[in-house]
Amino acid sequence: MIPKIELHLHLEGAAPPAFIRGLAKEKSIDIGGIFDERGHYRYKDFWDFLKVYEAATSVLTTPEDYGRLTTAVLEESAASGVIYSETFLSPDFCGGRDLGAWREYLHAMQEAAARAEVQDGITLRAIITCIRHFGPEKARETALCAAETVGDFVTGFGIAGDEKAGKPGDFRWSFDCAREAGLRLTAHAGEWGGPESVRAALADLGVERIGHGVRAIEDLALVDELAERGVVLEVCPGSNVALGLYPNWRAHPIGKLYDRGVKVTVSTDDPPFFHTTMEREFAELHAAFDWDEGVFAALNRTALDAAFCDADTKARIAKKLEG
Ligand code: ADE
Ligand code: ZN
Repeated sequence: MIPKIELHLHLEGAAPPAFIRGLAKEKSIDIGGIFDERGHYRYKDFWDFLKVYEAATSVLTTPEDYGRLTTAVLEESAASGVIYSETFLSPDFCGGRDLGAWREYLHAMQEAAARAEVQDGITLRAIITCIRHFGPEKARETALCAAETVGDFVTGFGIAGDEKAGKPGDFRWSFDCAREAGLRLTAHAGEWGGPESVRAALADLGVERIGHGVRAIEDLALVDELAERGVVLEVCPGSNVALGLYPNWRAHPIGKLYDRGVKVTVSTDDPPFFHTTMEREFAELHAAFDWDEGVFAALNRTALDAAFCDADTKARIAKKLEG
């Protein structure tokens, strides 16, 4: 199996449905109709997906739950060949942005990640993310949690959630705070917003990577600017196809972005929600664009170059990539 680097994975979004069901049962929490008859997550569109995501997350109430979740998620990723992963973590869900509680959640996840590194050979780093539709005030508290816990494990800061809620500029303070603390920056943009949303994330938040960014394809001047500036896109094709942004894999713009020189990478976003894995992403890209091992090796190198870990970690992962 090809070793893989993944830069864009939401920890709660990667929770296997059976894991969430089991926890809900243990705690006698009723999470209603978020599963279909086959036991998969059920949602109608992106906005409904966000609601289901938050309902599933509501059963994760303790640091121990998050430790167990980290273990379950990393086992799945490693089984797909992932050797290095960056995951979005939200103090909103982990202790309600209270710094003391956040530290406890973080400790549990970091311990689980250290065990997975030994057992499954997968390295994890964390990007702390604010949630756009929760608003700029909560984002400030999230940024402060991130700034207080920056280190070997917490290396990035970002923003996810409903791209149609507010503007990137509303979150400038939080991104400035995170940058000053030494965190590397990324923002979800160009998924449900168009090219102007990508431009605003770059100009107003000063991010070096964009989560998704695929709708830049609607403005070729922007595509060329991304290529020239070396902005890295965390592209999640299976997520975009499952959420109906593109009708099928062949219609996905990742091929055109790559051909035009944009630094694209490949991730799963929220794999069980979108019935995907890193293995499936690579297989579908091979089928849709005839990408071969040479292209996948180049994508892995781009991803590792753009990773938010320190130089020693990068050198160690690079050795593993080379085999
Ligand atoms: N949170 C989890 N998945 C997301 C996505 N695809 N876009 C925005 N926010 C998200
Ligand atoms: Zn995402």
